[in-house]
Amino acid sequence: MSISIIGAGAIGSAIARKFARNGIEVSIANSRGPETLQALVSELGPNAKAVTLKEAAQADIVFLAVNWDRIEGALKNLGPWDGRILVDANNAVEVPSYQPIDLGGRASSQAVAEWAPGARVVKAFNHLVAPVLEADPKVDGGRRVLFVAGEDADAKKAVSDLIVKVGYVSIDLGGLEQSRLVQFPGGPLAIVNLVQLNQ
Ligand SMILES: NC(=O)c1ccc[n+]([C@@H]2O[C@H](COP(=O)([O-])OP(=O)(O)OC[C@H]3O[C@@H](n4cnc5c(N)ncnc54)[C@H](OP(=O)(O)O)[C@@H]3O)[C@@H](O)[C@H]2O)c1
Repeated sequence: MSISIIGAGAIGSAIARKFARNGIEVSIANSRGPETLQALVSELGPNAKAVTLKEAAQADIVFLAVNWDRIEGALKNLGPWDGRILVDANNAVEVPSYQPIDLGGRASSQAVAEWAPGARVVKAFNHLVAPVLEADPKVDGGRRVLFVAGEDADAKKAVSDLIVKVGYVSIDLGGLEQSRLVQFPGGPLAIVNLVQLNQ
């Protein structure tokens, strides 16, 4: 499966490092074009490639890690999604006040799913801060936990397989409604750095 990341800031580049360093090929895009990502892809080595936004959106699994106020605009011309997997690694939060954004009662991934009709949206990779996500997931003889939530079981399995491949434990929380558990701010699991110890 081809993998891409839209957004190459703190969280997008942390996800890219995780994959590239574990031998998984990844392409990455930002709003300013591939030429602005040369330093990052040189650092990441041969598993990483800088691409345009449109090219990134064609991958089988597309990670989205973009400032919340720019997501709807970024997604506007990227369809049709035709069932491709869109991993919502975002949090609906105003920066720098860290106030929650009013989504009219929707979970933030439900909003993302509305802006990307036809995509199989999975909430994942959003609940830890970038430096923790980048750190070694092996801790005290156990493994750090990442969560998945979404409506499509196959899509969640594909994302969970990647999570396990890069060394984490994956825990399935349920549907997009349950993604509220990991939303920042407010979700009881947001920023909670859980490690599953081997018994
Ligand atoms: N930072 C964290 O620790 C953390 C943790 C968990 C979740 N998150 C979530 O992850 C998302 C990104 O946060 P961040 O801290 O990584 O932000 P960031 O460092 O500011 O990076 C944002 C990235 O999004 C790109 N971008 C903005 N508008 C775009 C567009 N229209 N099309 C394509 N790319 C676009 C930017 O590219 P350009 O510079 O070229 O515009 C930049 O690469 C947010 O939703 C945040 O809540 C962050």
